[in-house]
Amino acid sequence: MKFCPCEDGRESRGVICDFHPARMSSKASHACLSRADPSVFTKKVILKLPAKFDLLPDAASYDAAVEALYALAFGPGRHAKAAARLREGHQSRRDVSFVAMSGGHLIGACRLWPLVTDQGQEILFLGPIAVAPDHQGQGLGGELVEACLTASDRLTGLPVILVGDLAFFEPFGFSQAPKGQVTLPGPADPKRILWRPAQGADIIAPAGKLLKNA
Ligand SMILES: CC(C)(COP(=O)(O)OP(=O)(O)OC[C@H]1O[C@@H](n2cnc3c(N)ncnc32)[C@H](O)[C@@H]1OP(=O)(O)O)[C@@H](O)C(=O)NCCC(=O)NCCS
Repeated sequence: MKFCPCEDGRESRGVICDFHPARMSSKASHACLSRADPSVFTKKVILKLPAKFDLLPDAASYDAAVEALYALAFGPGRHAKAAARLREGHQSRRDVSFVAMSGGHLIGACRLWPLVTDQGQEILFLGPIAVAPDHQGQGLGGELVEACLTASDRLTGLPVILVGDLAFFEPFGFSQAPKGQVTLPGPADPKRILWRPAQGADIIAPAGKLLKNA
């Protein structure tokens, strides 16, 4: 069978996809094989192609799709968590939050929220992070976290805190917040309260009750 593994018609190494030239974008994040021998277009070859997605700063126009993804990833119980109370009725920092798009579909999202401790320390709250089930395990979750942290370091210089798995977040510089020093507006497993100082900033561990920051 002859078809193009490029799917979205991007250009790579100066080769334009024959199958989708009208939809070509200037980004070259994967190799389009459409001019190669069609016999190589087997399922095996396609599975070996690198994942294709674009990371874009968050925007209001993505809100409905992001909510649908979070509902799929976390279910209705997500609203009952203490972390949710820090986000309800609050606005995330769009400039340091990112979505992942593939073929016009939103397949991943990670948001950062402005908080302050009751002791006056400004801090960003990361989450939720979610990747669509059929795109997991391809490095996208890691790239979303990296994008948010890089933007946050550059634009805010603030530490970042979250409630999540240390195994996932440790490679990005997160460690457990000092036990008992940080509280949320509800119960949270202290082992899952993680933080990371901004790169190049003073290492001052967060302490106090987390509150929304306008
Ligand atoms: C967690 C999640 C965002 C990871 O996205 P992903 O695109 O599959 O992650 P990546 O492919 O970038 O994986 C990065 C690494 O983290 C590991 N990892 C993935 N999910 C993990 C988890 N929940 N706990 C620990 N490690 C995890 C992967 O094995 C991988 O390790 P490796 O680099 O050694 O192979 C995704 O699985 C998801 O949306 N899960 C449902 C929502 C959720 O639980 N979010 C909160 C996580 S605290």
